[in-house]
Amino acid sequence: MKIDVLSIFPGYLAPLRESLIGKAVDRGVIELGVHDLRRWTYDVHRTVDDSPYGGGPGMLMRAEPWGLALDELAPVDGPQPRLVVPTPAGRPFTQALANELAAEPWLLFACGRYEGIDARVVEYAADRMVVDEVSLGDYVLAGGEVAVLVMVEAIGRLLPGVLGNVASHEQDSFSDGLLEGPAYTRPEVWRGRPVPDVLLSGHHAAIARWRRDEALRRTAARRPDLLSAVTLDTTDRKVLAE
Ligand code: ADE
Repeated sequence: MKIDVLSIFPGYLAPLRESLIGKAVDRGVIELGVHDLRRWTYDVHRTVDDSPYGGGPGMLMRAEPWGLALDELAPVDGPQPRLVVPTPAGRPFTQALANELAAEPWLLFACGRYEGIDARVVEYAADRMVVDEVSLGDYVLAGGEVAVLVMVEAIGRLLPGVLGNVASHEQDSFSDGLLEGPAYTRPEVWRGRPVPDVLLSGHHAAIARWRRDEALRRTAARRPDLLSAVTLDTTDRKVLAE
């Protein structure tokens, strides 16, 4: 997968060279390009912002550097990336969207700063590429860079060959619509606290049932909003009624 990121703070994206995603970049599973938006400014001050028409506080990112950057990274007559624009006004970033984006050959992330980007940039891009304005959650960050770190990590770990154990994202929180329950490793008793007996039983069906029960209980306690999208059988319903 090709991933390009446009930002006025390219240094903010340095963590993409570390750990799991960094290894995927080193191995060529992810072809990463981080680009400084100011490369596409031509005035002495390399200006990327200006005050908003109609007044109001703060500054907006000017359209022109974005237009030039998009045209150079994704020329109009060539293949087009899917453009992802982090913004608190976007649709929520979810595991389902991470799965969808992980299936794309090319993603281009556009990091806004200040009060955002002139709205014509997204309109202009949408004439030739799929554009998603995406929010991480109901809070306001200082810019899109941290949101991109989050999204690239969530997407990157889904790519074939990035996680050591392919089965491990099949058990993630959200892959069955539920939060994952508690997990334990050695020792069997730690500071007087034993691991639940069933996990030591070797009884695979009982372990799977216990894990499902814990996931159901945790989801009901912490994220009851998720349960409406989960298919529950009679055993599940009984556990939730306890
Ligand atoms: N930029 C600023 N706040 C954001 C948020 N909550 N999600 C995505 N991008 C953002």
